[in-house]
Amino acid sequence: MLMEIKKASFLVSNSQTGKCPFPDKPEYAFTGRSNVGKSSLINMLVNRKTLAKTSATPGKTQLINHFIINDSWYLVDLPGYGYARAPQKEIRKWSSLVERYLLERSNLCALFVLVDIRHPARQSDLSFMEWLGEKQIPFVVVFTKSDKLTPGEAAAAVDRYRTVLSEGWEPLPPLFVTSSLTGSGREAILGFIGGVNKEWEQPPVKRGKR
Ligand code: GTP
Ligand code: MG
Repeated sequence: MLMEIKKASFLVSNSQTGKCPFPDKPEYAFTGRSNVGKSSLINMLVNRKTLAKTSATPGKTQLINHFIINDSWYLVDLPGYGYARAPQKEIRKWSSLVERYLLERSNLCALFVLVDIRHPARQSDLSFMEWLGEKQIPFVVVFTKSDKLTPGEAAAAVDRYRTVLSEGWEPLPPLFVTSSLTGSGREAILGFIGGVNKEWEQPPVKRGKR
């Protein structure tokens, strides 16, 4: 059964990872190039048009924004990267803020790496995923703006991306095709989050010592 979103509210914006909410709930963060559709996807998932602020101008989201869903899990809107017009200093600030967030957040269950379905795989995104792999940060790939292509074109684009990914990844990370405009991909992503939330609720498995 599809997880119902009964409650979704904004909690806090931060420029320091240390001030993020206490990490006692499962957390899912959204990252990707500026303008790729992170904030729009969050709004689509929780069915609130204006929960996360969106804009046609890249660079809208500049802080770490926590939202709490159904009183039990967090969604996090991260600032976009690779915004061509951003000064070097801004880019470095982004990297250190987001890097620290990704390395420190013990409750991060999955990072959603968003890519625009219309563009071929970018080296910057692939390198970023490689870094996530090295740091053992779990991630999934989300294709955004699928409404801009025909279903056939979208399937071909995903196939091409899968081929590129399979050069570096085995198994492949989960892939989701979405459109914030039509809501496509919503059930798949909420289903994924619901499954991970269930694992979180289960009593901790004893590891290591026998
Ligand atoms: P930053 O916060 O600036 O990094 O951007 P973001 O990744 O949060 O993107 P945002 O959600 O603000 O969307 C950027 C632009 O893309 C807006 O004009 C959105 O309306 C548009 N957009 C986002 N998702 C979709 C989609 O699925 N389909 C279409 N057609 N447009 C989209
Ligand atoms: Mg945004």
